[in-house]
Amino acid sequence: MIQRFTHYLDLERQRTFVDECRALMDGAVPAYVPTVRGGGKMHVRMLCLGRHWNGLTYRYEPTRSDFDNLPAPPLPQSFRALAADIARDAELPLAADICILNYYDADGRMGLHQDKDEGAESIAAGVPVVSVSLGDTARFLFGGLKRRDPIETMLLESGDAFVFGGPSRLRYHGVSRIVPHTAPPELHLTGRFNLTFRQF
Ligand code: SIN
Ligand code: MN
Repeated sequence: MIQRFTHYLDLERQRTFVDECRALMDGAVPAYVPTVRGGGKMHVRMLCLGRHWNGLTYRYEPTRSDFDNLPAPPLPQSFRALAADIARDAELPLAADICILNYYDADGRMGLHQDKDEGAESIAAGVPVVSVSLGDTARFLFGGLKRRDPIETMLLESGDAFVFGGPSRLRYHGVSRIVPHTAPPELHLTGRFNLTFRQF
């Protein structure tokens, strides 16, 4: 089950969420560039809300033991409500308790991967991941359940929502590139925020 909602958020709501993302990213518990298993650095700045995803262990934890031991900030109510609205519109169940907020600059990208570190029950039930894009357009890759399955490319634009759940919950996905200078000028944003909501 996948659902794509183009321009789910109007410009006014995009602006509100961009402001909130900025404040969080540069807040008391700031975003950072994770180092992953194998020692490479990710090509995004990341901030996990609700629970922290540890890039060295690929496990969720309350505090950032791979970085500064600060606690993951809570998931804001406005974020939780946005995820609930999108899931309801996609007719899929989701009580989001985690949001991974990523910032991509012009060189940002994310390799092909599965989201499979949430709870076994949540994954087995196909509880969806809800993704919201803000700012510059991303070239998003969406593959199959095996890494070598054919890959579909789509452009995710500012305000778009994308949902993958049920039998599609473990499909491989990634971001091959950001298209610079494509954010709506009203956002005053260089780069892209992506929010992925999950239920542990
Ligand atoms: C992710 O898979 O965690 C992020 C996807 C995106 O940035 O669109
Ligand atoms: Mn992912």
